[in-house]
Amino acid sequence: MRTQVLIVGSGPSGLLLGQLLAGIGIDNVILERVDRDHLLSRVRAGVLEQGTVELLDEAGAGERMHAEGLPHDGFAVAFDNRLHRIDLHALTGKRVMVYGQTEMTRDLVEKREKAGLTTVFEAANVALHDISGSPFVTYEKDGQSHRIDCDFIAGCDGYHGVSRRSVPGGALQSFERVYPFGWLGVLAEVPPASHELIYANHELGFALCSMRSMTRSRYYIQCPIDEKVEDWSDGRFWDELRRRLPAESAAAVTTGPSFEKSIALLRSFVVEPMQFGKLSLVGDAAHIVPPTGAKGLNLAASDVRYLFSGLREFYADGSTAGMDAYSGRALARVWKAVRFSWWMTTMLHRFPEGGAFGQRIQEAELDYLVHSRAASTALAENYVGLPY
Ligand code: FAD
Ligand code: DHB
Repeated sequence: MRTQVLIVGSGPSGLLLGQLLAGIGIDNVILERVDRDHLLSRVRAGVLEQGTVELLDEAGAGERMHAEGLPHDGFAVAFDNRLHRIDLHALTGKRVMVYGQTEMTRDLVEKREKAGLTTVFEAANVALHDISGSPFVTYEKDGQSHRIDCDFIAGCDGYHGVSRRSVPGGALQSFERVYPFGWLGVLAEVPPASHELIYANHELGFALCSMRSMTRSRYYIQCPIDEKVEDWSDGRFWDELRRRLPAESAAAVTTGPSFEKSIALLRSFVVEPMQFGKLSLVGDAAHIVPPTGAKGLNLAASDVRYLFSGLREFYADGSTAGMDAYSGRALARVWKAVRFSWWMTTMLHRFPEGGAFGQRIQEAELDYLVHSRAASTALAENYVGLPY
């Protein structure tokens, strides 16, 4: 079998790239390790930048997002028992869209199926070969071995995927910071505490009030790195969340049974370059950011935009200029989001080693942030997404 672009992984980056390529007649196949139900049941990010919204529209998969997603003009930063609104729209002229990654993935999968494009679910032992020459990929499905030859490979297989590990040793440089805490997240069928998100700094640790709709809430609290989900009953979670919010927000929290509860560890990670021979790394396969600021999914989308533009140029007129520039263009935007996510994380969480000095610096930073229009604007323009 042969295809033009072989995509490893059907997360948001693989699906979005596949849809955009198919839209301009570039043939592609996606190989995905897990089954379709597993893919569609994963709960992850929830905030889309305007650029990500536009890319979904370009892929022809934005209809339900516009009907059901919630455009947000601002969010609140909470500290010292008070809420301070960051007016994204007044400060930047832009807004964000609250729409779950789970829903976005479903829209893209359904679109792909309707278009009759090939996705191989439960593809085992995916292996990349001859990535700097004539690339091909092998995998197993139902006990049978298969081979697909291609022009390019897009490694969209996340942090734990096979693509990054297929690059010969020494060709990639990695940069990493691991944070000394995690996020315990809960999803519940209850109305959100506020119509906008609340990012709270509190002496007991960070808390975030988010949502998936006006009847479904998503909450997170900072927790120790070795915390066990089983130790957190719903009651314990709601009590801890409310302790970390200003009184008026705590009073507005509607509690109820959770239907998803999980712990995510926080890290910043980047590999350079994001390309080797005919293989391009996209999204979490090349970089991870801590979730504070909601950049992970949006960065995956911006990588897709750059790679799509390079591939379009190559297939339109044979020029490799766009493909050659992919890693440099993507990394310039990646590092700014890595910096922003690190900064948001540093400003809002309790660091075990921070001590009293760290605490005072945080208080000064937050006070400056909400009282300076320049500082608020810097936060807002990063949050809504920097230009491409
Ligand atoms: P992924 O979504 O990871 O997709 C990769 C795909 O490749 C997966 O479907 C995987 O099954 C497949 N795959 C892996 N290995 C192989 C293989 N060997 N062969 C074939 N297929 C393979 N971001 C936020 O902004 N806010 C959040 O709250 C947030 N929460 C998160 C919680 C968790 C638990 C995780 C893991 C991430 C979270 N993120 C969050 C980050 C965000 O979800 C990611 O940035 C986004 O999913 C990146 O998309 P991607 O397509 O690059 O990678
Ligand atoms: C969500 C996750 C984030 O990391 C964030 O900054 C905002 C919202 C969410 O899952 O809703």
